[in-house]
Amino acid sequence: HRHLTGIAGLQPHEITFLLDEAEKWAESNRARRPSDHRLDGITQINAFFENSTRTLLSFEIAGKRLGADVVNMAVAQSSVKKGETLIDTAVTLNAMRADVIVIRHSSSGAVQLIASKVDCPVLNAGDGWHEHPTQALLDALTIRRRRGTVHGQRVVICGDLMHSRVARSNILALTALSAEVRVVAPSTLMPGAIEAMGVTAFHNFDEALEGADVVMMLRLQNERMSGAFIPSTREYHLRYGLTHERLERAKPDALVMHPGPMNRGVEIASGVADDPERSAINEQVEMGVAVRMACLDVLTRKSRGVEGWA
Ligand code: CP
Repeated sequence: HRHLTGIAGLQPHEITFLLDEAEKWAESNRARRPSDHRLDGITQINAFFENSTRTLLSFEIAGKRLGADVVNMAVAQSSVKKGETLIDTAVTLNAMRADVIVIRHSSSGAVQLIASKVDCPVLNAGDGWHEHPTQALLDALTIRRRRGTVHGQRVVICGDLMHSRVARSNILALTALSAEVRVVAPSTLMPGAIEAMGVTAFHNFDEALEGADVVMMLRLQNERMSGAFIPSTREYHLRYGLTHERLERAKPDALVMHPGPMNRGVEIASGVADDPERSAINEQVEMGVAVRMACLDVLTRKSRGVEGWA
């Protein structure tokens, strides 16, 4: 089976194919048209070993909208809490004959490990600092819809790049689609070799914002930091917070994005997050359902005997 463990395994034409598939669902979801229930009889297990609001709910809604039987594994009440290993949990899920498994885990590589132990497609819903591929796809879809194209767009990604799987997947997807990507962070939150990914690194947010088409803000991931990394939130906001005043350096119609959850007043001012003209944050969430419908459909095509890329 083909899995979706990261953007790293995808060719640019495959990314575009998934975006085109998602675009169709975005239109039918917006028109509130019922889907054709192409996943009738499919069992989808969502196993989230780490907290989530958007990703878990949108994978559940996406599966149900396509007719799948969706089961959410309640990790807090599961035998994981009794010391069961990740491999034993994976083998157990496999024995229940899941047709597709969606995993979120705090360890980078956990999803790949599970994928190697089961005989159905596995989708990565975020693993540690590694990747969050469906987030990058929904972000690329949002940019494409709002800006017309991803190609040539100057996208500024600002915040905790060190611990961000969202940034990593976005950099891979956006550079594959020929965007110009700028990354901004204090030196303690900037990975050393990041320019090898084809981006330009800045420490000064105002400089990076010049002429931006898209400004993507990231949360300080305090849960992944030891004390040395954590800046004071007041100082962080002064240097790296997105305010309306700072946004004036970007293009007049620049789009503001944030994967959520937001820390208002830290990386983004409330007025910017809620700006109806500039903020695409709610559209990102909306595109999340469409992208996850596309990924669930495409990845299960082979086992459903339907022609597809997988
Ligand atoms: N963007 C994102 O992954 O949000 P959740 O953690 O709420 O799923």
